[in-house]
Amino acid sequence: MRTKIVAGNWKMNKSFQEAEELIGELATKLEDKELICEVVVCPPALYLEMASDYADESIFCVGAQNVSEHEHGAYTGEISAEMLDSVDVDFCIVGHSERRKYFDEDNYLLANKVNRVLDHDMIPIYCCGEVIEEREKNIHFDIVEQQIKEGLFHLSEDEFSNIVIAYEPVWAIGTGLTATPEQAQEMHAFIRKLVAKKYGETAAADCTILYGGSCNAQNAVELFAQKDVDGGLIGGASLKADDFIKIAESF
Ligand code: 13P
Repeated sequence: MRTKIVAGNWKMNKSFQEAEELIGELATKLEDKELICEVVVCPPALYLEMASDYADESIFCVGAQNVSEHEHGAYTGEISAEMLDSVDVDFCIVGHSERRKYFDEDNYLLANKVNRVLDHDMIPIYCCGEVIEEREKNIHFDIVEQQIKEGLFHLSEDEFSNIVIAYEPVWAIGTGLTATPEQAQEMHAFIRKLVAKKYGETAAADCTILYGGSCNAQNAVELFAQKDVDGGLIGGASLKADDFIKIAESF
């Protein structure tokens, strides 16, 4: 079944104390909420175990922002899917545009990361999206198609049923420039069609596709009202409990 999800990507923000304060506030404020979406909190790796402890007593799930493409071994500084799993992480963002841009992660490397996450029964949130020059050249559909085909379409139908896709137009990330609801819907429908062609209509209908890029408490209702938009991957607005919860209430 298609699940609605609101996930907060904290990126590289907050000290441990600030992180614990925000997680605690989220846990308390979510207590009496009856949401129709799943809430996922993706703090920096160092805080995942603490977040999992709070999640045990609350309705939110915990996600990581990145994972190594390797199983284990001599990879100084890296964190494996097995390690994430061992502190009860449920989701893992894979292929965020900041990882693609600053750490040269390409679709084939990301396909391996997706495999590692699935190996440990966690759910990859696979990110795709074009930069502004690609949209201006009208090749944004081709770019997203390639990201999805090369990063995900090696999976079996069964494996694919555990994938969440996040469409994040890079020009909308952290810029205050949101895609219009029509632009988001157009791309989400395109992605769903790609999935249908590869895995069939049922798999496509069941696939959760999130929007990310300057999504906030003001514009979430209109974005989430689009037929093929199943929630959001939220950056800046996930750093304040009230804003983030308001977004989760926007369906
Ligand atoms: P902003 O919501 O800050 O634009 O970031 C979106 C994002 O990159 C989420 O992964």
